[in-house]
Amino acid sequence: MDSIPRVTAGGAAIPVIGYGTWPLKGEACAQAVATALACGYRHLDTAAMYENEAAVGEGLRASGVARKDVWVTTKVWWEDIAEGALQRSAEASLARLGLDQVDLLLIHWPSKAVPLAQSIRALNDAKRRGLARHIGVSNFPSRMLEEAVALSDAALVANQCEYHPHLDQSKVLAACRRHGIAFVSYCPLGRGSVGGVLKEPSVREIADRIGRTPAQVVLRWHVQQPDVVAVPKSADPKRIAENLDVFGFSLEEADMRRLSGLARPDGRVVSLAFAPDWD
Ligand SMILES: NC(=O)c1ccc[n+]([C@@H]2O[C@H](COP(=O)([O-])OP(=O)(O)OC[C@H]3O[C@@H](n4cnc5c(N)ncnc54)[C@H](OP(=O)(O)O)[C@@H]3O)[C@@H](O)[C@H]2O)c1
Repeated sequence: MDSIPRVTAGGAAIPVIGYGTWPLKGEACAQAVATALACGYRHLDTAAMYENEAAVGEGLRASGVARKDVWVTTKVWWEDIAEGALQRSAEASLARLGLDQVDLLLIHWPSKAVPLAQSIRALNDAKRRGLARHIGVSNFPSRMLEEAVALSDAALVANQCEYHPHLDQSKVLAACRRHGIAFVSYCPLGRGSVGGVLKEPSVREIADRIGRTPAQVVLRWHVQQPDVVAVPKSADPKRIAENLDVFGFSLEEADMRRLSGLARPDGRVVSLAFAPDWD
């Protein structure tokens, strides 16, 4: 039994802090995954595109933690989401991970070339065939999420999107909540020193006042919001532990609002040529 709170969605119960594995690879990745599990993480986030699924599986086995106690998410790259290709990608992920089934299989990004109905059908087929216990999407703006929900036979249990105090995601969050879908925050720390979230004076002031680190304040802001899960990545054992230690305190409502108020129009960190039109 673990003590990490979970978000429930469509029959799934997802630990609210997961361990993000991009861009770790090879032995460093396997060791970091084993460290995270030894610290108490029970949720691992990987993807076919990260080229680290074999290392994630190796770290999971090395940890000695029972498979059934760990939530494993992987993702199908957007160039592989046509009928047939999606199922093959999921099978290849399982082979690399050394698992019979993942807990959650996500469409990593939507594709402009493949009709959504086709990829959602293929995703449902992957679930029916037992390749995944649950299915979901990633990088789906609110309107596309609505379409996906309407097209899916099985519940979509998660939409994994960028989220941190510099980025307002209220529209996507509202769409998730309308349909009982977990919102999984990627880049939850605004990518550490890259995005500047952890250097925000408000974040630092709150952290100093309550005796926590800026990263803990930002992760607490995530998990204190209903239906929100966060998957921070760190390669450093001390920070890996620090990022999970966010359940012994809470933020005042005024501080929650202050952090949300840091959102700005240029706050997005991940901007790729194939991205959909965001909300
Ligand atoms: N679905 C998608 O399209 C998508 C896109 C991007 C990411 N993701 C997932 O989301 C995960 C997290 O996103 P991310 O890695 O881009 O960004 P992130 O978790 O916001 O930030 C990671 C950065 O923050 C630093 N950091 C971690 N903990 C820290 C702490 N306590 N104090 C100070 N700095 C800290 C890390 O450095 P150190 O390693 O040196 O600690 C690293 O440079 C990824 O690993 C991946 O699993 C998904």
